[in-house]
Amino acid sequence: MAIDLKTRLASSNGTDANPLRAGLDSNRVADPCNIVFFGASGDLTKRMLMPAMYNLRLGDVLPTNCGIVGFSRSDKSHYDFREEMKEAIDAFSRSGEAREPMWTDFANRLHYIPGSFDDVEGFKALKAQLDENDEKLGTAGNRLYYLATPPSVFGKVVAQLAAAGLGPRDQTKGWTRIIIEKPFGYDLDSARALQAEVTKVFDEKQVYRIDHYLGKEPVQDIVALRFANVMFEPIWNRRYVDCVQITAAETVGVEGRGGYYEGAGALRDMIQNHVMNLLALVAMEPPISPDADRIRDEKFKVLSAMRPLGRDDVTRMTARGQYGPGLIEGKAVPGYREEPSVDVNSTTETYACAKFFIDNWRWADVPFYLRSGKRLARKHSEIAVKFRSIPHRIFGEAGDAIETNTLVMKIQPEEGVAIRFNAKVPGPKMHIRGVTMDFNYGTGFGVVSPPAYERLIGDAMRGDATLFTRWDAVEQAWIAVTPIMERWSESRMLDFPNYLAGSQGPQNADALLVADGREWRRI
Ligand code: BG6
Repeated sequence: MAIDLKTRLASSNGTDANPLRAGLDSNRVADPCNIVFFGASGDLTKRMLMPAMYNLRLGDVLPTNCGIVGFSRSDKSHYDFREEMKEAIDAFSRSGEAREPMWTDFANRLHYIPGSFDDVEGFKALKAQLDENDEKLGTAGNRLYYLATPPSVFGKVVAQLAAAGLGPRDQTKGWTRIIIEKPFGYDLDSARALQAEVTKVFDEKQVYRIDHYLGKEPVQDIVALRFANVMFEPIWNRRYVDCVQITAAETVGVEGRGGYYEGAGALRDMIQNHVMNLLALVAMEPPISPDADRIRDEKFKVLSAMRPLGRDDVTRMTARGQYGPGLIEGKAVPGYREEPSVDVNSTTETYACAKFFIDNWRWADVPFYLRSGKRLARKHSEIAVKFRSIPHRIFGEAGDAIETNTLVMKIQPEEGVAIRFNAKVPGPKMHIRGVTMDFNYGTGFGVVSPPAYERLIGDAMRGDATLFTRWDAVEQAWIAVTPIMERWSESRMLDFPNYLAGSQGPQNADALLVADGREWRRI
């Protein structure tokens, strides 16, 4: 059912009965600006970006003096582009179909420029459109470029922007920023090469590297949970924590992206970026202020304290898998090697897990187990902080297991925090059982979290880079996974596929924890 976003946003301003939100103002209007989507005919623009823009408009975050320009190779008119974007919004927007009078107002701000990334002419036409928008729509010379293209052309687009006089250094008024989609590079060397190309034209402060996980509400809440409460920080260290397990499990396969995924695999696609960002947030030291760079300083520090894996460590501390055919929610699905654009003998991993250590005072010798995979039993992302056992047992009848405590930050699909602890079972005997205290944001605050892209595009328009990844962290994350990529590329996995679609993942991933006397939480 379509959600009435207007109503919901009105209620999130405190006008409804939920006492947890009373008096809160949640709207932050962005600056006037032009936003240009490179790769405007692609799936990301249609499924995520344009619906996000429309909902930002509905939610009064998008200023009225805003222009939106699509740029891609296909030849089409402004009119065709508007029709195409309306279809995309109708199909994918969380607020349901685009409706009048808002749609016409929104459509009048949409323009399209066809152009090749190899040819500066299209970029010159883009410049003319942006200048016209500044005059007609009052966009004040402010420009936000969004690279929603295949990563192979990121560098080219940046160079063409400079060649056409669209770079920040050509500007006489307003600001220029660029949002770059993931993956930022294919490996450490290519990431460094891309960074060199980007910084020829943009300063680091103008670069917004997107990782949509950071836009998810429960991910932002990690920082609130840790630093807006006094009771977690004293136990958030090696003295009390036995291990941390970070999981990003999906039920989907490669969804028509076989061509891209063949060259990526789970390690590059999920662990190097989304999962590393989660690790950084959960393990970093308290920042001295909420400023973007203060938080990003701490993330960088903790990523740079990750113990480098040696060649033998990779064998002992990592595992990989590839799904074969199986059942997802009772429906038969093909194996990875049967997916379109995938090699029938592919050795690309669709599941990756690794154990890392963070060599600092807080975390020395506490294992951080990271895992991510496609076609697993459940879509489920979480961070579980598992605590040590009690030092001395005084309670419990014979046979009662006393569980260790766990704090779980639930990222999706449930969003919230759960704490697992032990309690006495009512009755004359002293039986002890593990119980769960569960907080859900949706029911607690009575709101549905907005999709990450809405939050992130709004933040980039306002110049708030807190939820974007700074270069130094991207580089450290590549450094951490490089030994794994290198070792894995040398040894082919002869037993692929090694897990069934719809299962918990490969057995070698379980073995990795069993060897440490631990086990994975169930997906
Ligand atoms: C993307 C990956 O970054 O994240 C995809 O490229 C993956 O392969 C997706 O499916 C997962 O995002 P989410 O928000 O569904 O967990």
